[in-house]
Amino acid sequence: MNPIVTNLAYLLASVLFIFGLKGLTHPRTAVRGNRLGAFGMLIAIVVTLVDRNVMTYQWIIAGLALGTVIGAVMAVKIEMTAMPELVAVFNGFGGVASALVAGAELFRYAHGGTVEVPVTQFAIAAGASGLIGMVTFTGSMIAFIKLRGFAFSGNVKYPGDQVVKALFALACLALIVMIVGDPSGQYELYWYVMLVSAVLGVLVVIPIGGADMPVVITLLNSYSGLAAAATGFVLDNTVLIIAGSLVGASGIILTLIMCKAMNRSLNNVLFGTWGGDAMASVPGADEIYEGKIKATSAEEVAMMLDGLSSVIIVPGYGLAVAQAQHAVRDLANMLKANGTDVKYAIHPVAGRMPGHMNVLLAEADVPYDELVEMDLINPAFAQCDLAIVLGANDVVNPSAREDPTSPIAGMPILDVDYARTVVVIKRSLSPGFAGIPNPLFAKDNTLMFFGDAKQNMLDLIAAIKDA
Ligand code: TAP
Repeated sequence: MNPIVTNLAYLLASVLFIFGLKGLTHPRTAVRGNRLGAFGMLIAIVVTLVDRNVMTYQWIIAGLALGTVIGAVMAVKIEMTAMPELVAVFNGFGGVASALVAGAELFRYAHGGTVEVPVTQFAIAAGASGLIGMVTFTGSMIAFIKLRGFAFSGNVKYPGDQVVKALFALACLALIVMIVGDPSGQYELYWYVMLVSAVLGVLVVIPIGGADMPVVITLLNSYSGLAAAATGFVLDNTVLIIAGSLVGASGIILTLIMCKAMNRSLNNVLFGTWGGDAMASVPGADEIYEGKIKATSAEEVAMMLDGLSSVIIVPGYGLAVAQAQHAVRDLANMLKANGTDVKYAIHPVAGRMPGHMNVLLAEADVPYDELVEMDLINPAFAQCDLAIVLGANDVVNPSAREDPTSPIAGMPILDVDYARTVVVIKRSLSPGFAGIPNPLFAKDNTLMFFGDAKQNMLDLIAAIKDA
């Protein structure tokens, strides 16, 4: 194929990726964004297959068919709460694929093949792809194992772990330097680059607590993009370089957004432990809750909801566990039919993955304009008659605002405690992800409606109908 046509097609694919990403920034345009990105990828794949003098299509077609079946089954079967695990696996496979392609090119070159880029660039890029790709692969597999709860739960620390990691990283860099010095003579060292990097991936992720895995996964997502970009330099394939860089950049931006919303630094996630010394100064649950908890019932809440002008619903991780999104939409529809203004307050890290609440509520066809981001909804709590906290805990914990010694001090929260009345729906007084008590439950204007989020919603709907 004429190189000008190929490059123009790659340029078009890249523009489609960028507009696709732009579309993904808002739920209303997300589906179109997804389609644009997929169409860009189709163009990139077709042009590459036509352009690269493919000898035989048998293996490619077999791989496509197998991958499509496995991918489709996994995507359909996976539970929403297990989405981070699925993303981890996909990142890992992306990383190892990049490392293998780069390695195959290095071996082909060493056996007399030609390369289309300067040999030093080729060898450095291959080494980078092997290193980053394999760290991504094994790191993602450990993240998957931790999230599934199969093994290595908690922070698996041992003395001198930073030194051990540094030694493995240095060993890997030394191997890459040797390959770059003589790519055709030393190409077999690539196996060792892959092996050492694989161990390094395990060592990097294994000490990080399971609860921090979603942040680690977005970081590994970024790495998988960098590995793909490096392989793009090996193959001299512009669209792979651009697509890999886009994944790398968007992954790191998302990682930083998540860290900021949790008031943690990336350094602290990667090398520290959750809470650290601040955990020691957390007041006991008894001290906070003793004699101050007021329980309520479906009938009482149904009476309170009658004739209100504004209600804000605050969904959290418990909504995802209980799968209460359809029931809460039904409740909201009943309230709206009675003239109540209903909004959903969305915290950036509510749940366990970015956009978790948006996805769940969209699944239940909740109109997008009822979902209001934290910064916009916070001023509205003071004027709101009733806030319903549905399976959320940390994201509404006023200690973040009021207690500078709290492990979550400074984390931006939803100011639900400013509402006239707050009804908290959860099964018990047990803590959320951060493992700390929540003074909101003991406030004068808070009522605890104990139970499963979905069941309580159904009971509430029945009580409203009976009233
Ligand atoms: P959490 O603070 O984790 O609290 C969730 C609450 O849901 C729990 O206290 C639990 O209480 C309740 N719950 C569980 N199952 C329930 C059910 N079936 N029915 C009713 N309630 C149920 O959740 P959050 O407020 O959404 O905060 C998210 C936390 O995760 C933050 O600390 C955030 O930093 C962290 N995090 C988030 C992300 C992303 S990207 N979203 C990534 C990593 C970490 P009971 O057991 O008493 O019911």
